[in-house]
Amino acid sequence: MFKSKPVLKITGKSKRKAKKRKRRMEKEAKAVNGIFRSSKELASHESVKPVSAVDVLSAQVVKPRKAAKPEKDLSSLRLKEKKDLLKDLPARPEVTITFMDMGFDVYKCNLKVAGGREKQTILDNVSGVFGSKQLTGIMGPSGAGKSTLLNIISGCRESNVRGKVLLNGQQVNTALLRKTACYIMQEDELMPFLSVDEYMAMSAKLKLGSSADGEKKKRIIHAILSILRLEDCLDTRVHNLSGGEKKRLAIALELVSNPAIIFLDEPTSGLDSANCTYVVALLKNLASSGRTIVCTIHQPPERVFFMFDKMMVLAKGGRFIFSDHPSKMIGFFKKFGYPCPSGHNPADFIAELAGESSWKDAPIDDFVKVTKAKIKMKLEQKQKAGSSAREDSARLIKAMRTTGYAASYLTQFRVLSVRTFKASLRDYATLQLRFYGAIFVGLLMGGTFWQVGSNSEKMLDNMGLIFFCVMFNGFAGMLPTLLTFPTEMNVFRREHLNYWYSMKLYYLATTIAFLPAQVFFPALYTTIVYFMSGQPYEANRFFMHTLIMVLVGLLTESYGLIFGSALAPQSAVYIAPISMTPFVVYGGFLISIKNLPDWFRWMGHVSFFRYGVEGAVKSVYGFERNLTCPYGFPRCVITHSSLIETMYGLDLPYETDVAVLIGLMLIARSSAFFVMWTKVKTSR
Ligand SMILES: Nc1ncnc2c1ncn2[C@@H]1O[C@H](COP(=O)(O)OP(=O)(O)OP(=O)(O)O)[C@@H](O)[C@H]1O
Ligand SMILES: [Mg+2]
Repeated sequence: MFKSKPVLKITGKSKRKAKKRKRRMEKEAKAVNGIFRSSKELASHESVKPVSAVDVLSAQVVKPRKAAKPEKDLSSLRLKEKKDLLKDLPARPEVTITFMDMGFDVYKCNLKVAGGREKQTILDNVSGVFGSKQLTGIMGPSGAGKSTLLNIISGCRESNVRGKVLLNGQQVNTALLRKTACYIMQEDELMPFLSVDEYMAMSAKLKLGSSADGEKKKRIIHAILSILRLEDCLDTRVHNLSGGEKKRLAIALELVSNPAIIFLDEPTSGLDSANCTYVVALLKNLASSGRTIVCTIHQPPERVFFMFDKMMVLAKGGRFIFSDHPSKMIGFFKKFGYPCPSGHNPADFIAELAGESSWKDAPIDDFVKVTKAKIKMKLEQKQKAGSSAREDSARLIKAMRTTGYAASYLTQFRVLSVRTFKASLRDYATLQLRFYGAIFVGLLMGGTFWQVGSNSEKMLDNMGLIFFCVMFNGFAGMLPTLLTFPTEMNVFRREHLNYWYSMKLYYLATTIAFLPAQVFFPALYTTIVYFMSGQPYEANRFFMHTLIMVLVGLLTESYGLIFGSALAPQSAVYIAPISMTPFVVYGGFLISIKNLPDWFRWMGHVSFFRYGVEGAVKSVYGFERNLTCPYGFPRCVITHSSLIETMYGLDLPYETDVAVLIGLMLIARSSAFFVMWTKVKTSR
């Protein structure tokens, strides 16, 4: 009696719970299905059990997180309005991608072969079609060339590439392809300090421009976030998101502009099976509403495997061993005498077969031959049918050619500078380091060189202090850029590739956004040291001195941009400071400019340290300053500032030092832009 009662109670409760859950799932499923298409459309392949959103949602075992309080204006929108909301997205043409004889080789160093270079074929002249309204999967063992294929077709890689890519039967260049496609890469390169909401708003401003007003943008953002189940994380900053949420955010950011083509490199890696199922179901739904979606995937669960409209399998050496609807795969390999063992996930079976690990004797060449012939036949059929689509594609190409960036240059500049400024303000670790660093070193130097500036007896000590201050501001200006800019570069590459904004505008906005910090910290340090070390209490001398220190900081920041955009952070933080040391030696303090050997004198002329030190010395000793000496000669050797200038060979006027520093900074900034541009070009 005592035992049965609670059991009955639990059973009743769980039944009610199950019913409630089922009702909720059906409701949610209706919403998801309704957004994109009717459930009839889902069952487009008679050979496969159609996967509906009910199946997808019922497969979930994870309990949804308790919703965080969404933004007021977003929360006022009801879920059932989602369907209408997606209609707000700009209309895009349907695009079929045909790629023909795509090949890519790399040359690896091998001293055992003639010439010391061995050719490795990554893609072996593969062809295929990614149909519109289709979700195409690319599977294969690690290193088979899946990412390489996506990189090439999306225009991410251009050098040493063979073959051609056609959109609706017409050959297009990379720039045109980038306008209509988006590429979500294997690694999620996102700005860590922005919240999901801010990131989406920024993406909408850049990718929709003036084509949608503020309200419409909000509606689109809300719809995409609710579809991708990111509503709970509206206020969460990217660095606090889980791996799966980051992946979904990367997709959400690109969906804003409703791209006609979406390439995704392993969108499901790191996701649990429920989320993996949901993401693929979502992609399938997006594809069926008119987009061309291609994604690489590693051993998906069985139900996910059959969701794809087409599965292409790459074997090692970059050759397709299968390209058709997933339901036809088992029969295809069975004909060759390789049946999928019963109870085995077909995705696992094909991964093992293509990976040649468990099936060493598998006739890969035969699979390739048959698949190649099938693809060739399909391509010929497509070419025959192509004439009817010619008008369509001409319209598409014309539309793509005429559209530039969605947002105006002014909007791009505003959005990018605000974003970079916000991100740098939230990078508390770097800010605190710089703030406390400036105060600590400032107090240390001010205490060590206490009132040396007002005493001509300690003139040489003061020269040492000025030299140190120029050096400190130089390194302090450069190091933060070396640490933060490489991450920025990765984000920039992804966004620029996806045609968010122009590189010039990005560079200009970044430069402007970094400016407040680059002025504030050298000014803070200089103020502390200037007054503690007893430099002349004259406003104009103080501002002149501070200006030199700020210019030195800005100049070395430019060097930081050059090294940060050219190298990985590990190399940049080592190579950049080392390459600055010769400038320090020729700065005029360790060895006087006039004492430099003739063949090294030019180094003194290009050393920005020299102009920094000279300008800083002139600001405190120049302009006919008479030095006071409490002890008189011989303890005070120098009683007039002109003697110092003669002693160190500092013969340029202060204004020239300022002008040269500004000139060098402009040269360094232009070089940094050129390095960035080259890096983006050569990385393709
Ligand atoms: N630029 C390059 N130089 C040398 N080797 C390269 C280059 N690009 C690609 N490879 C090689 O080509 C092969 C395919 O790389 P790719 O990244 O396309 O593989 P993948 O199929 O995407 O693998 P995974 O599933 O692990 O992501 C790898 O062996 C890789 O080392
Ligand atoms: Mg890959």
